Amino acid sequence: MSRLPPGGLEGMVAGQTGLCTVGLDGVGLTYRGYAIEDLTSFSSFEEVSYLLLYGKLPTVSELADYHRRLAGGRSIPQRLKTVLEQLPSGSHPMDVLRTACSTLGCLEPEGSFANQAPCAERLLAVMPSALAYWHHFHQSGIRINEVTDASGTAEHLLLLLHGKPPTDLHRQAMDVSLMLYAEHEFNASTFTARVVASTLSDIHSAITAGIGALRGPLHGGANEAAMDLIDRFSDADEAEKSLLEMLARKEKVMGFGHRVYKENDPRSDIIKRWAKMLCDDCGLTNLIAISERIEQVMQREKRLFPNVDFYSASAYRCMGIATPMFTPLFVLSRIAGWSAHIFEQRADNRLIRPAANYIGPSPQAWLPIDQR
Ligand code: COA
Repeated sequence: MSRLPPGGLEGMVAGQTGLCTVGLDGVGLTYRGYAIEDLTSFSSFEEVSYLLLYGKLPTVSELADYHRRLAGGRSIPQRLKTVLEQLPSGSHPMDVLRTACSTLGCLEPEGSFANQAPCAERLLAVMPSALAYWHHFHQSGIRINEVTDASGTAEHLLLLLHGKPPTDLHRQAMDVSLMLYAEHEFNASTFTARVVASTLSDIHSAITAGIGALRGPLHGGANEAAMDLIDRFSDADEAEKSLLEMLARKEKVMGFGHRVYKENDPRSDIIKRWAKMLCDDCGLTNLIAISERIEQVMQREKRLFPNVDFYSASAYRCMGIATPMFTPLFVLSRIAGWSAHIFEQRADNRLIRPAANYIGPSPQAWLPIDQR
């Protein structure tokens, strides 16, 4: 029998990538060699998604063209609108996005791998519209005009969700959040997308599968679970008391810990700064007080640190985003990373098909049904 890999394939190298380093000694988190700190300080989500899709930061004219193409891809085909209207009002928006992506695969099939980049751009452009269209139709029966002249994804999304232009602070914070969520090496959803791509399937299938993997609370769903937890407490002392009880019961606290990072998630430092600014701006200082106390208790009791999802929750709350929309926002950004990985997988493909150690029954004689 061959040696078993560690549970959950922890620490196993499952392929090569030129897209991202996660926690590499002396390098940290980079997208195609650019530090996440630099990207979130000086770039935009459009520059970052262009970098991921096309391998280089855009020039002024390349970025302008890219913006124009994304703006031109925001309108939802009528048949997708019909599907969105038919979905139950109580659907989780992650299920809505999964269905929207799959439906686009029927309405606008990739056809050939030569169309992969336009398909990725179309998904980046139209999925925010689809999310907002479904949301408003089912919340208030309104069929919104999903085509805006917003300058970028962050503004487009906030404008559609709230029906008015965002403040500069909200637009910038959302832009940073989209950059932070855009890519993260061989995480569960990206690996899922690569497995699907390795069968030479189409981009919509691979991204639909990625959305399914991202939905769970151990992965993208942690930002919603973190908000639900924070919402249970009215002040920091109550949070500490309850958290200690949770830890005594060996419950997991969502938004803490990471499979790869062992000391710190660099994305958390960045989004925490923005969350604090947003909380100051909107007066939700208790939210930060509770969050910081949870962070202190987790550090003291478990030596665990917040990951990107924990303070993203507070940031989104301040931007007026409903909790079930948190993980969908992650999708809208990660489409960039998933797509880039699909391109990379296709460029040097071999079917991903590992083996398993058999632990079932020994060979047995088959018996006719009346003798079992
Ligand atoms: N809360 C409480 N304990 C945690 C924890 C958390 N968030 N994360 C890890 N631990 C503890 C586990 O209980 C376990 O303790 P034990 O050895 O006493 O049993 C130990 O740390 C190892 O946890 P394990 O789940 O095996 O580690 P992993 O590498 O599989 O975990 C995560 C990675 C992300 C799945 C895990 O940290 C987690 O579940 N976090 C919460 C979900 C989350 O925020 N996901 C988003 C990631 S970006």
